[in-house]
Amino acid sequence: EPYDLLVINGLVVTASDIGHYDIAIKDEKIALLAPKGSLAEIAAKRVIDAEGGYVMPGGVDAHVHLDEPPLFGKGKTADDYETGTRSAICGGTTTVVTFAPQSKSDPSLLSVLQQTHVKANKNCYTDYSFHLLISNPTPDVLSEFSALREQGISSLKIYMTYEALQLRDNQILDVLLEARRNGITTLIHAENGDILSWMTEQLESRGLYAPKYHATSRPQIVETEATNRAIALSSIIDTPILIVHVSSPSAAKHIRHAQTKGLPIYAETCPQYLFLTHSDLDKPGFEGAKCVCSPPPREGSEDHEAIWRGLSNGTFTILSSDHCPFDYDDREAGKKSVLIEGYPEGRFRYIPNGCPGVETRLSLVLGEGEERLGLSKFVEVTSTNAAKLYGLYPKKGTLLPGLSDADLCIWYPEGTLEPFRVSNGQLHHHVDYTPYEGREVGNWPRWTILRGKVMWARDEGGIVGEKGFGEFIRRGASVMAKRGEKGDWEVERL
Ligand code: URP
Ligand code: ZN
Ligand code: ZN
Ligand code: ZN
Repeated sequence: EPYDLLVINGLVVTASDIGHYDIAIKDEKIALLAPKGSLAEIAAKRVIDAEGGYVMPGGVDAHVHLDEPPLFGKGKTADDYETGTRSAICGGTTTVVTFAPQSKSDPSLLSVLQQTHVKANKNCYTDYSFHLLISNPTPDVLSEFSALREQGISSLKIYMTYEALQLRDNQILDVLLEARRNGITTLIHAENGDILSWMTEQLESRGLYAPKYHATSRPQIVETEATNRAIALSSIIDTPILIVHVSSPSAAKHIRHAQTKGLPIYAETCPQYLFLTHSDLDKPGFEGAKCVCSPPPREGSEDHEAIWRGLSNGTFTILSSDHCPFDYDDREAGKKSVLIEGYPEGRFRYIPNGCPGVETRLSLVLGEGEERLGLSKFVEVTSTNAAKLYGLYPKKGTLLPGLSDADLCIWYPEGTLEPFRVSNGQLHHHVDYTPYEGREVGNWPRWTILRGKVMWARDEGGIVGEKGFGEFIRRGASVMAKRGEKGDWEVERL
């Protein structure tokens, strides 16, 4: 029986090992890893010679917004499951975890989950799962957590800001306690919604509406306070949390302090906090509006340095895109959809928060990260740890023979490919801009392989796989985020 695919002669990089190995793939799985040259003669339907290349597990992007209603300002997300996962696969990501969003009027998480399945089913170029986004934790909603686990959902996201989503601390405790009982990991968006609303009123009363004031309304302390409060709430329940999209070095310090004490606190950062700054919000005309996200890009290069340091020293468990795509030109009306009458640069209060970036995540971060983090750490934070944290490991995130799906991303080291400038026209999302327009990158995936099937081939016309090959992945409990030492009764006694 021949193998389905051989990937030979590459430098294979996982979170734990680097070496020149040949890989044999059969029935969608990694079947063999063997010393370079030893599989050259073996029978296979296809051989990819990756000489000179890096062969890595496919990227796992555990923070992607697709096909969501307006929750973060005006307008619904521009990418659906087809265009968002198409963009992901072209950038080297083979698994995404998106959100199944409960609006306050949705009485049942299970029906929200069902509706999200309908959106994704047969439409995806990558494998996928969902975090349930909870905006209204009624007793009925909390009673559905065990059913969610049975349906392969082992994580939730909650918000400390946004009118449509913000939970009070007692509601957060309700969610965390029920999450603990069910072995669910809770993601928390940590910004103090009351402070930033107050700041917004203050700025507007002084006539300050431009996009750059989005950052003024959310200084680091807004994120730091909420982060610290989230840590406190988690420690009361003794249950793991992940703080999403950390931008602030001072928030990172509190996270590191909690980790040092042994608390089960995990954290995520994103490319926008390594590459964008306040000055991007102050670009002329409407350009600034394109970089509005929450938390906002921070002041400058010292902040970026601190975030890189946090990736390298383990404060940040994962690096995700927080791909949250909004169009800036309304395709039907032929005008800026988020432009408010009388505010030609946009009015920051109404500008939807979020940037697209599912396709550029790996290339941008590998460019600088190869030096700053090393190749294994790059794989760890962009793939392996997300798989471990969210119950996808070792099916995803590594290359264990007999166990792992044959999801690969094959790169050529910087200098092999002519450096080029990112432009939105090259990307495969359904958004009319990228915040990284014009930025020079020195690498791009040459092949992306999902369960043994070549989906993206840079030199063979781009997308070669079909939509619908991507499957829903049922997730188990996290192998990383375990609840603390306290016995159930100690918490339950509360
Ligand atoms: O600005 C952001 N991050 N928008 C996306 C929604 C979220 O909070 O993740
Ligand atoms: Zn080599
Ligand atoms: Zn968020
Ligand atoms: Zn997000």
